[in-house]
Order: sequence, then C-alpha cells, then structure tokens
Amino acid sequence: MKKKLILGALALLMLLPAKAQITWQQVEPGVWKGVVGIPESYSLLDVSGATPLKEGFTRLPEVALPALANEIVGAVQDGKTSLRIPLQRKEQLYGFGLNFQTVHQRGKILNLHVDHYGGKDNGRTHAPVPFYISNLGYGVLVNSARYLTVYASNGARKDSPNAPIAKDRNTDKTWTANPYSDAVSILVPAPGVEIYIFAGPTPMDVVRRYNLFCGGGTLPPRWGLGFTQRTQKLYTAEDVEKEADEFERQGYPLDFIGLEPGWQSRAYPCTFEWDKKRFANPAEFVKDMLDKGVRINLWTNPYVSPESGVYKEMVPVSGSHTVWCGIVPDLAGEKARQLWKDKLEKEHVNIGVSGYKIDEVDGYDRYLWPDVATFPSGVSAEQMRQTYGLWVQRTTAELYKERNQRTFGLVRASNAGASSYPYVIYNDYYSHQDFITALINSGFSGVLWTPEVRGSKTGEEWLRRFQSVVFSPMAMINAWASGTKPWSFPEVAPQIKEYALLRMQMMPYWYTEFARYHFDGIPPFRAINLEPGFNAEQAVSTEVKSSNLEDNPYLEAISKEIKDQYMAGEYLLVAPMFVGQKERTVVLPQGNWYDFYTGKYVGNGERITVSPGLDRIPVFVKDGAVIPFMEAMLHAPKAGQKVNLEIRHYGKADGVYRLYDDDGETFDYEKGAYSWRDIKVTRDKKGRLKGSISKAEKGKPDNIATVSWKFMTVN
Ligand code: GAL
Repeated sequence: MKKKLILGALALLMLLPAKAQITWQQVEPGVWKGVVGIPESYSLLDVSGATPLKEGFTRLPEVALPALANEIVGAVQDGKTSLRIPLQRKEQLYGFGLNFQTVHQRGKILNLHVDHYGGKDNGRTHAPVPFYISNLGYGVLVNSARYLTVYASNGARKDSPNAPIAKDRNTDKTWTANPYSDAVSILVPAPGVEIYIFAGPTPMDVVRRYNLFCGGGTLPPRWGLGFTQRTQKLYTAEDVEKEADEFERQGYPLDFIGLEPGWQSRAYPCTFEWDKKRFANPAEFVKDMLDKGVRINLWTNPYVSPESGVYKEMVPVSGSHTVWCGIVPDLAGEKARQLWKDKLEKEHVNIGVSGYKIDEVDGYDRYLWPDVATFPSGVSAEQMRQTYGLWVQRTTAELYKERNQRTFGLVRASNAGASSYPYVIYNDYYSHQDFITALINSGFSGVLWTPEVRGSKTGEEWLRRFQSVVFSPMAMINAWASGTKPWSFPEVAPQIKEYALLRMQMMPYWYTEFARYHFDGIPPFRAINLEPGFNAEQAVSTEVKSSNLEDNPYLEAISKEIKDQYMAGEYLLVAPMFVGQKERTVVLPQGNWYDFYTGKYVGNGERITVSPGLDRIPVFVKDGAVIPFMEAMLHAPKAGQKVNLEIRHYGKADGVYRLYDDDGETFDYEKGAYSWRDIKVTRDKKGRLKGSISKAEKGKPDNIATVSWKFMTVN
C-alpha cells in the first residue's frame, strides 16, 4: 500500500510540468532570446529569413533586460510548451497580429491561426503574429509556426500573489465572471520554443526594435505610393489600355493597374500563363502601359492548374492535397520555390510586370489544405498554413531583389518576421470602421494594411472610404467585381480627384516616412497609443468613469481604447469619417494641434468634436510640423526626375524634418546611395518664420528642382 502511494506520488510528480526560469541571451541591442524545452527547427523567423538591420539599433537608447524577464516561466508537459508572462494591474497590451475590432488586447483569448478574417477577433486572421507590446515598454515574440493559444490575461493561479478574492454572486455587486488575471499564458503545441523579449524604454521603441530585428521596414518604390486601380476581372488588354487613357484624360493620377483573375488562361487553380484571347501580346501590352507611365501588377493564387506548363514538374514537390483541384507547391522546399520563381520570371517579370497580388494564401479551412495534409519537405500542414504567406512573399521579393528592382504588391497572409517584405495585406471583409482598426493594429505587428475601396452604395460612402485610403500604405481601388472608377459618382468626383492628387502632392512626405520605417523601424501608420503626448485617460468615456476600472482590466481595455483615429507619419493625426456621420470626437494628445487644411489651432491634450462636412477627412498636425509637398503629378517621379517642393510648416514652434531621397526604384540605397536633407524652420529677429534646407551631399541623389515655403499658421 505504502509502495503504491510512493509510486503514485512519483508518477504525479513526473506529470507535473518541469517549470523553469528562462536564461536570456542578448541577440541585438535591447533584444533577448530565451529557450524553453527543445524548439522545433522550423520557425517563423527562419521562414521569413529576416536578418536584423544592425545599423538601425544605434539610434535607440541603451537598455537593460526588463526586470520582468526573470519572472517569465516556461514548462513542457504533454508534448506542449506553456509560457507564463506576468502582468501588472492596469497594464495594457497591443498587437497579437492583425486584429480588426479592438486595439487593446488584454482579456482576449486567441487561437492564432492564419485565416481569412471571419468577423471576430478570435486569433484567426491574415497575420496572427505572435508578438505583443505592453504599454509599460516591453514586447514579447513567440517564434513558433504552430497554432498558438493565447490567454491574454485569463485564468487565475491559486498561488498567485495577485490572486482574486472569492465573492458571493448573490449579494456582491462587484462579483465578476472574469476574476482578475495577472499573466499572459501561451500554449505552444510543441515540446519547446524560442521566445524573444524586446525592450523599450517606450512602446514605440519596442516596435522599432521588432521591425529592425526583422530587417527594417520595407521601402517601397516611389511609384508604389502613387495611386492604383484594380480592373474588372475579365478585362482585355484594350480595356486596360483604355482605362489608363481615361485616367490621364480626366486628370486622375495612376501609377499601377492591377489585373484580376481574367488575365490568366485558367484561374482557381492558376496556370500563371496569359490568356491569349484577352492578351494576345503580353510583352507589347506591358511595354505600352509602361510607356503610358503605368505599371502592371498581376493577381494570382499559388495553386497550380493541371493545364499549367509547370504542373508536371511541380507534382513531386507539392503537398498531398489540392486546392480547387490545383496542386500546392511545397514552398518550404528549394525545388518548388525555384520552379515557381522561374515560371513567374519567364512569364511576367522578364516582360516588365512590376509585382503581384498573391491571393488565397490565408484560408478558409473549407478550401485550403486540411491539417492532415503532408508535404515532401516534411513540414506539417499546420506549419505550412502558418507560413505560406511568408513563403510567397519571400520567394517573389527575392525574385525582384535579384534584379535590383523594387516591387510593391498585395498579399492575404503574413506572420512574424515580415517587416521588410514589400507587401500590403487586404481582404474581402469591407467594413470601413474595422479597416481603420486593422490599419492601427498593423503598426504593432510589422505588416502593412490597405483599407481598400471596392464599390459603394452612395457617393457619400465612396468619398468617405476614398478619403481614408489616401492616408494609408496603398491608395487603391479594387474594382475587380464592381468596375467602379474614381469618377463613378459624379456628385463627388471633384473631391475624389482632389484627394487622389493630394496623395501625389504628399509623395515626398510618404516616401520619407517609409524610409523611416526602413532605417529606424518606425511604422508609417500606427496607433495613437504610440504617441509620446498621448494619455489613455483622455479616451475614457464618462459612462465608465464611475466603474472600478482598477479591478476590471476588461472594462478598462474597452473604455480607454481609441480605434478610429491614427497617426500617419511623424506629424499627422487622421480621424476618418464614416458614412452617415455628421460629426465625430477626436482625442488630441498633449501638445498644440492644428488643422491640416487651414493651419488653425484646434486644441491640446483634449477631446474635441469636429463636423467638417463631406468634403473633408479630419486631419490634424503637430505643432512645428514640417511637411514636404510636391506638385500634383499624375505619375510618381521616375529615378532622377526633379520635383518642385512646397514645404509647409504648421503651428508656432520651430520645425525640423529630415527629407529622404534616393533613386526610388532600386536597392542601391542599401549601398549608401541616398541622402537625408535637413529642413529647418525658425524665427528671424522680427519673429517671422523662415525656412532652410541643406544641400544634398556631393554624389548623392538630389531630386529637388525648386523649394517654396508655406507657413500655414498665421499669428
Ligand atoms: C478575392 C480577393 C479579391 C479579388 C477576387 C478576384 O479572393 O480578395 O480582392 O482579387 O478574389 O477573384
């Protein structure tokens, strides 16, 4: 009996997880790696191939390992790894990938799983990046290509020093179904994992370190920041040419046109070959378009049709299951990657196609390969699902990089390690409000997002959506189904044109802000929470001010969240209007803020209500802002083309800006072929504002013809 008891106790002990403190090893300044159990050899960072942009770390403050690191505990049990990362009261969390409905993530339970977003923030999304940032100034990345379960402050340990106190539900009004939880717990279905900690000191520094660790943010070609229209799916070469001519004739800017499924001889699954009836001479067509100043981007999915020339060779290096009866290239294997790359190069890139929109690499479960599928590389179906978006981006990005040519395209799935990929995520969900929240959240996860415009029921909706897309990483109309043109709603066509041209005028600003993304890791579009003068208390609506937020992090999370306004670059706060809205509130961080259009003072560290009318999307500018504009061109400036700058200054404070320049098309900037020009605005003895701009260094790019100044705030 005694023996049995001892054996039983021993067995129990063996079942208990071997909890271990983690040893941290510094891998880059302010970035530490820890290991629990035996990590798998296939991880998100491996697949992304990201190499840290070391030089960028030199502009960040020196930091020590956050104290919390020594409180993180990892355990392996039942073939799975669990992580426990402690939280403090009132601490707030951001990130965990491309969420659409909330910015604050504390209190969520997420099953991180690449999928087409289904309308609920449950972890199934296009980029379920296992990385989060605390408002206390540290971040955590779990480098696993598995479906992870995240309890972002759920569950209470009985031995926790912060364990909640039991209450009587019958009589105690403060009883809650979600008692206080003091940790993030993550379950990794593998017997080990790598975990990374990113230090701040500020949450923005955490984001910067993450992006720099992943290679620095992408720097798109200049034309990628111009305007793009995606044409209807069965358009012919003539239709496309006519459409480009119509843009020109009507004076709307256009830098690239996206061709939707009908350019291919077969789509869903795809041949990657041109449809000869609709595009009799693809090379000539692409050249004609380039002569018009318009590049071609091609829609595709990666599933290979039996009718494709590459099918036979691809069969042995494809997965066990098909998607719409097309085979799935095993992109984790060199051979499949090379075959696909060669096919794209031969059919498209060699004739001048500028990039891709790679569709359907996210979900849904009902048509992608099931989790029982196998791949010749030995990578499991689950790991393939989590990384397929990374593989298609990496493969195509390499194809262009090898030619020293920048690309900028679209993709529907991504994951950790993707900051340097020249791709923007999109989807079919089409909620304007949620698209803005996704834009905010993209900035926490090293991905870009476009709140694309497709069709609209009314001119008002069309204009409201269009105004937002102009202040986003990719200014795009995706008319594959609707055929809508910028001028389709005559009642708002002039306003649409004005905003499309504004996008072009702001090119020097957008381009510089992307350069900051690349060199310094600062996301060009991001949450107000990362602004230095932002104080979450300002956001609390009065209804919840009376409740006890301290005890209820869930209520706290919802009440203080701002999910409908964002920062666009260094100086702009954008507060989109949605259809039906006549007015809205805007929370201004500390500091003086000015109206973008008039230069008038609007407020400082307060909640304001604005009612700008249909013609305007509310945009506010920081005191001392310096924003470089250029003339409104219909196409982005080509390499070496000089532009006339109009430099605008806002507010009363002196202003500084560093304007970035390079050829806008190649990777020569990686070898130093770029320049930063110092712009300064100060007051002379009489108190008048005066601006100056430094000369480009000898031998460095200099694309400025003339400079004029506009001081937007009078008095
Ligand atoms: C969808 C995609 C759309 C459009 C369409 C064409 O999957 O999200 O943007 O490309 O396919 O069939």
